[in-house]
Amino acid sequence: MTTTVLVLGGTTEGRELAAALDGRPGLQVVTSLAGRVQEPLPLAGPVRSGGFGGVDGLVAWLRAHHPALLVDATHPYATRITGAAAQAAARAQVPALRLARPGWTPQVGDRWHRVPDAAAAAAVLPALGSRPLLTTGHGGLPAFLAADGCARLPVLLRCVEPVAEPLPAPWRVLLARGPFTVEGERELLHRERIDVLVTRDSGGSAAKLDAAREAGTPVVVLDRPRVASGDRALPQVPTVAAALAWIDGRGVSCAPPRRSDGCDPGPGPAAQAPPGDRQRDRSLSRGGNAPMFRTIMHPVRHFHGRAPGAR
Ligand SMILES: NC(=O)c1ccc[n+]([C@@H]2O[C@H](COP(=O)([O-])OP(=O)(O)OC[C@H]3O[C@@H](n4cnc5c(N)ncnc54)[C@H](OP(=O)(O)O)[C@@H]3O)[C@@H](O)[C@H]2O)c1
Repeated sequence: MTTTVLVLGGTTEGRELAAALDGRPGLQVVTSLAGRVQEPLPLAGPVRSGGFGGVDGLVAWLRAHHPALLVDATHPYATRITGAAAQAAARAQVPALRLARPGWTPQVGDRWHRVPDAAAAAAVLPALGSRPLLTTGHGGLPAFLAADGCARLPVLLRCVEPVAEPLPAPWRVLLARGPFTVEGERELLHRERIDVLVTRDSGGSAAKLDAAREAGTPVVVLDRPRVASGDRALPQVPTVAAALAWIDGRGVSCAPPRRSDGCDPGPGPAAQAPPGDRQRDRSLSRGGNAPMFRTIMHPVRHFHGRAPGAR
């Protein structure tokens, strides 16, 4: 019998965890993605894509597919799915873990301005610089667009996916996906004459912070948002290794080994699901076909060149 571990992904950690679990005897790792990114990076094991339909939908999915464990490895700023995961896991009685990378710690030479949210960042930004690099993703964008002082600045907005909203005339978009290098970030700050960086406290690779420190560039750092999971907050670990240790501690990977040809002997989650769920999870597929990186420059306004750290 194959035991399923559901990983709520969309992050480097989720991808690394799936890779570490894929191929373990008797275990199948299914990664769930929100389905917003057009070309997600390759993933080991089956992938399901699209929202579950809130807490109730996730509970229904857990009851239909019977994963032995759930690991919420979503981004620290993806608060809705994290809140839903904690509540749904409790209701469906699936042991669950939160894997969240630690935030960054300021170092000597950093010129950080910590703010609670995007609205506060938009309020302080014009006083800190005149050529901002905005790396806060789509979520906080409305707050920057609503702030008159920001709309007038020649903001360089770096994000993974194109932006649907109309942008102010001086703004330009740089479509790029990390990981970024310090060299690339240094070159970008210099070439674009960036004099203030805006970032969330995402943790992980700190190349942009290293480059900003070197250049003496001020950085506006948005605090992590609170997760609304009531009294259901999951136990949390900071690393993939710690998540693997937690999984090992649950003893789910001791089923008979796979066939010697490497084929998974058990039915996948889609096959195990009732017909209605099979229809719902039509996006369940094997990962691994997408290109490794999709790093492109998207000139909204007279902007050409190659993204820093592009591969
Ligand atoms: N927020 C960021 O800055 C950021 C950065 C990098 C990667 N990501 C990844 O992008 C995804 C979406 O981020 P977000 O900030 O929009 O999240 P969010 O606000 O917490 O989630 C919004 C909705 O998207 C669906 N969803 C989110 N993650 C999902 C997953 N892994 N599998 C299935 N459904 C998911 C859920 O829909 P239903 O309510 O219908 O279930 C959720 O309510 C997350 O998986 C996250 O790991 C986010």
